[in-house]
Amino acid sequence: MSSKDSSLAWHRAESWPQEPLRVTSGSGAAPSGCAPSDGHSQRRRFWDIPPAPERVGQGAPAGYNGRQPVEGWREGDVTRIRPYQPDDLDGMLGVQNASADAEAGQSGASRSGLASYWGLRDRRRPAGLWVAEEGGQIVAYAGLRPWHSLGWLQAEVVVHPAERGRGVGGALLRHLVRAARRRSTAYLCAITPDAHPDRGTYLEHHGFQPFVRRQHMRLEPVVAPAAADVPGFAVRAAGPADCGALARINNASYPAGERVGRADAAGYQRFIEASGAQVWVAEQVPAGPVVGLCEVRQAEVALNGAPVRTGHIGSLAVLPAYRQRGLGRRLLVRGIELCRENGWPTVELNVDRDNEPALHLYESTGFRAVYAFTVYRLALAAGPLAP
Ligand SMILES: CC(C)(COP(=O)(O)OP(=O)(O)OC[C@H]1O[C@@H](n2cnc3c(N)ncnc32)[C@H](O)[C@@H]1OP(=O)(O)O)[C@@H](O)C(=O)NCCC(=O)NCCS
Repeated sequence: MSSKDSSLAWHRAESWPQEPLRVTSGSGAAPSGCAPSDGHSQRRRFWDIPPAPERVGQGAPAGYNGRQPVEGWREGDVTRIRPYQPDDLDGMLGVQNASADAEAGQSGASRSGLASYWGLRDRRRPAGLWVAEEGGQIVAYAGLRPWHSLGWLQAEVVVHPAERGRGVGGALLRHLVRAARRRSTAYLCAITPDAHPDRGTYLEHHGFQPFVRRQHMRLEPVVAPAAADVPGFAVRAAGPADCGALARINNASYPAGERVGRADAAGYQRFIEASGAQVWVAEQVPAGPVVGLCEVRQAEVALNGAPVRTGHIGSLAVLPAYRQRGLGRRLLVRGIELCRENGWPTVELNVDRDNEPALHLYESTGFRAVYAFTVYRLALAAGPLAP
């Protein structure tokens, strides 16, 4: 929850995959995460076929004419990269779950969970999702997801375990980079769980640099410990009139820098409408101001092998001048109570691993570490994957 950008009607940072990213296709059945290999086997070569509108212009690699098989290609050996079509969901699910099976500790996704994660409702084609297909079979998929900072996108690639080690992941990643460039993206990021033996080597090989180290935490069962009221302050549900104050609190609470998008009232309202988040505020009484917030929304996570809906704490923030008087704990406990009222079996959140006050607060409230992950980023202005 380090950086907040409520100025876009995007998913939030906290819609990061509850199971971490699988940029896979590494050699063999690697545990979770991003370990694609670019080792092209001699057995199979690629066509890299971007969607027609993207085939023209700067996105095309040197010498690329859109349908030219690479050297060594033979009939029947084609891997096509093409945009997602509505009927591809089951193929994607097969790839996702085969990948999860091959990766220790990962749980499979449900059809609805995957559809929701990629915004595939209503049979609409999402803007940034592609599949790699061989002989009518989907062997991998890759997508661009919104990120919480302006000018950023998240790359995600999943390759069927049986198809790894042949460069499918690399081809898809290059495809994502080209697509992101066409969208004037400043940074492309990707997430690697630290438990993965690859530890981001694959991403670094493609020019990504480690950016921020984070911890996924979980409260289970959802028990809200007691938290005293703070004299002079009330905690209440936020309303539309609070959006400006809430945007300012988020802006003031997270480190300045390129990863932080600035929010305003209209942007924050769009975020609430798009995410369905419920927000609780701490307000000085009797006459204000609003000085803190806790954002809670529903998320889907894999729990004991099954996808379940849970609560997710997005931003928890108190204006610097009002910290260390119990408001953060009071707001967090209210958020947990809300999750319990919704019947969610867990509460999840992500936190920077160097955020000592927040880590202390979460641990002392009963949250436990689930997995650590690192966010990598690629500056697209000068990335080595330039087309
Ligand atoms: C995290 C945050 C919300 C805590 O708000 P707060 O109002 O200061 O929290 P509280 O006063 O309820 O303090 C909660 C606990 O954290 C401890 N704590 C808070 N700030 C601390 C600090 N700077 N150093 C050490 N401990 C700190 C308090 O001592 C308290 O522990 P205790 O009850 O065991 O004594 C606030 O620091 C903040 O807004 N940070 C920036 C946004 C952020 O990082 N949010 C978390 C994102 S994951």
